[in-house]
Amino acid sequence: MKPIHILNGPNLNLLGKRQPEVYGHETLTDVEARCAALAADLGVALHFAQSNHEGAIVEMIHAARDAASAIVINPAAYTHTSVAILDALNAFDGPVIEVHISNVHKRESFRHHSYVSLRADGVIAGCGTEGYLLALRRVVSLLRAG
Ligand code: DQA
Repeated sequence: MKPIHILNGPNLNLLGKRQPEVYGHETLTDVEARCAALAADLGVALHFAQSNHEGAIVEMIHAARDAASAIVINPAAYTHTSVAILDALNAFDGPVIEVHISNVHKRESFRHHSYVSLRADGVIAGCGTEGYLLALRRVVSLLRAG
């Protein structure tokens, strides 16, 4: 099985420092370590990345077309604005799970709409950083189910 790519959008590099009352105290490096440990348990390879730039995220999704079996993506603020990220995901054939650390539906109305949800096979929101682990388990079971 090709690696699972976990992609993160803008400001998630500040996880742990940024609005901890909303996003918690764990850093993105902590999240990556927890995902890597779960991936090892599940016997899958992982690629974990973050960018603050929309075009860079589009290019990460293009790279995943050949390199990844599935994508877990927290597009952060681009969730609510980016047709380009939606189009890139529509050009990817494997499972896609969208993750939000916070419950976007409990927040401002501009966070209630997601372009990415038009493509995602599943959406996890409001489960904190554990959402990444849930998403990883889900893509592995989708891939194993064929
Ligand atoms: C987020 C929710 C988005 O609305 C926000 O812009 C983020 C993070 C989340 O993980 O809860 O940056 O995707």
